[in-house]
Amino acid sequence: MLLTGGSIAGAAPAPLDPAPLAAAPDIPLANVKAHLTQLQSIATANGGNRAHGRTGYKASLDYVKAKLDAAGYTTTIQQFTSSSRVGYNLIADWPGGDANQVVMAGSHLDSVTSGAGINDNGSGSAAVLETALAVARAGYAPTKHLRFAWWGAEELGLVGSRYYVNNLSSANRARISGYLNLDMVGSPNPGYFVYDDAPAIEQTFKDYFAGLGIPTEIETEGDGRSDHAPFKNVGVPVGGLFSGADYIKTAAQAAKWGGTAGLAFDRCYHSSCDTTANINDTALDRNADALAYAIWNLSA
Ligand code: TRP
Ligand code: CA
Ligand code: ZN
Repeated sequence: MLLTGGSIAGAAPAPLDPAPLAAAPDIPLANVKAHLTQLQSIATANGGNRAHGRTGYKASLDYVKAKLDAAGYTTTIQQFTSSSRVGYNLIADWPGGDANQVVMAGSHLDSVTSGAGINDNGSGSAAVLETALAVARAGYAPTKHLRFAWWGAEELGLVGSRYYVNNLSSANRARISGYLNLDMVGSPNPGYFVYDDAPAIEQTFKDYFAGLGIPTEIETEGDGRSDHAPFKNVGVPVGGLFSGADYIKTAAQAAKWGGTAGLAFDRCYHSSCDTTANINDTALDRNADALAYAIWNLSA
């Protein structure tokens, strides 16, 4: 049997054979959903929310940090103050890779005060967490350096992500090859929106969905609405995924994606009904898998 690369089964590969490109893993939906169950329990035990400056936010951060620490990440908590309350970002570096080429993925971990914030943005936070854990499980050793982030106080106006970017030296900003943002990726009446920013990141996400035969649309709600904005403003290439918030799904969108025309992508956006019941499993699974695909391919 001839193997790709020309080596014969059983024989040691020739010393100059290039390492094969590692395929991105299928992210287990059950694992992503287990994180959402924990975030819901945290909200329920802390007055019903995980908002900036409230106990449910810090408990959410501690949950994510413990998983990453156990998996071998180097984690850092970055503290800031906004509206007279202390907030936190969590940064997790995967050891290894070229420190001059950093591929980052992030999501905001805070909710609004009115609810548990399971779609906004437990969904993105759980998908980023499970992708980071998949890197560890695979022992993935990409060429580039991987960094994951969970932002505080997004709902107060991108406060945590802006704080992070403002506190990077210009040299460290220049080392970030790309920032991938996930904010609301399990909307109950989902669309498949890809940010229309850095072409290489956009194309990587589009390739993933094309491989599944799922049409995507460009995310057009504007660049100021999530944590990629502070990165984009200083010239970092950005991209991301979004399954829709309070905008209404059109008949054309329902025809290609299913779901209900004339209804919001997420009718519980910023409401008390944004619970674990407010998630479309298929959208959550596809977007988590798309993130893993992009992380693997953009960092190889
Ligand atoms: N957290 C964002 C917000 O409250 C959610 C959001 C709405 C969003 N529209 C978006 C995120 C468009 C990305 C792109 O505004
Ligand atoms: Ca999956
Ligand atoms: Zn959000």
